[in-house]
Amino acid sequence: MSLFNWLVSKTIMHVPGSIVGLFAKAYIAGEELNDAVRVTRDFNGQGIMATIDVLGEFITTKDEATFFKNQCLEILETIEREKLDANLSLKPTQMGLLLDRDFAFENIREIVAKAAELDNFVRIDMEDIACTDATIECYRQLRDEFPKHVGLVLQAYLRRTPADVEALSDKAMHFRLCKGIYNEPRTAAWKDMAIINRSFVALLDRMFRHKAYVGIATHDEKLVFEALELIDKYGLTSEQYEFQMLLGVDPELRQLLVDQGHRLRVYVPFGKSWLPYSKRRLKENPNIARHALLQILRGKS
Ligand code: FDA
Repeated sequence: MSLFNWLVSKTIMHVPGSIVGLFAKAYIAGEELNDAVRVTRDFNGQGIMATIDVLGEFITTKDEATFFKNQCLEILETIEREKLDANLSLKPTQMGLLLDRDFAFENIREIVAKAAELDNFVRIDMEDIACTDATIECYRQLRDEFPKHVGLVLQAYLRRTPADVEALSDKAMHFRLCKGIYNEPRTAAWKDMAIINRSFVALLDRMFRHKAYVGIATHDEKLVFEALELIDKYGLTSEQYEFQMLLGVDPELRQLLVDQGHRLRVYVPFGKSWLPYSKRRLKENPNIARHALLQILRGKS
């Protein structure tokens, strides 16, 4: 870990909100759903899809989970009413996964049922290793009931992921593939970035081989190149995959892909919990602070 990253991870929880706000601003649509609607409409105008996420995770009461479930239902209804080209991403812990698994499953089920009713789609984000088994099980159950309306995130850094893909390959699969953002122990996750990158490519190949629809979630141009090679190798049409990127990250790469005719979806988070969310992200991945600082210094923020 570089000195800069070490400093960020040790001090971030004590940094004032106004400073974190400087880093976070580019990555969050705003505090209200209206902000996410505005940003999504703007993307839709550029031929880019969105996935909307309300910030809030690792909650501590069932009331909070119910609040977030209702927000997710409202997001789906708003997407429908405003005729946005967008779907919903949610975090299982936000639905109470670490409080009461059945309660969380029921909350997620209600949201996916609403998405099915509106012919929309819910992506279940993947959180840290304590949530992996339950999150996959939740996806498996909901996929049986709503095969076209729910998808799962899988992380390339986890040693278990190839086996998870195989275990899910008995039915149609809808994945987002990303490197993974949490700080996992070496026993669970590859730690070397070169290996994580090779794992990402091997997993994408495996997913395509199983005819999964994949949201290829990366801003790493090496991986974008490898993904394009695989898309070519499998002769996929632009309806059979999509690229996904985070709000505020590498708009130039985003535009390059769109101009080449690839479908692209931007992750649009909003909400009042932007401060704890941003601090956690910065602690988990101090590289974000480095990227943001570089952007600020280059006058891009
Ligand atoms: P890498 O980290 O190597 O970044 C490549 C380049 O992109 C960097 O050099 C930098 O220029 C730029 N970059 C990347 N991240 C940046 C940032 N935050 N700010 C500024 N520049 C940045 N993870 C997870 O564990 N569970 C999940 O559910 C999700 N969901 C998810 C959705 C979507 C749409 C995306 C794009 C990503 C996720 N992730 C995630 C996060 C993912 O696991 C990973 O941590 C980040 O995407 C960064 O990895 P890259 O592949 O972009 O490579």
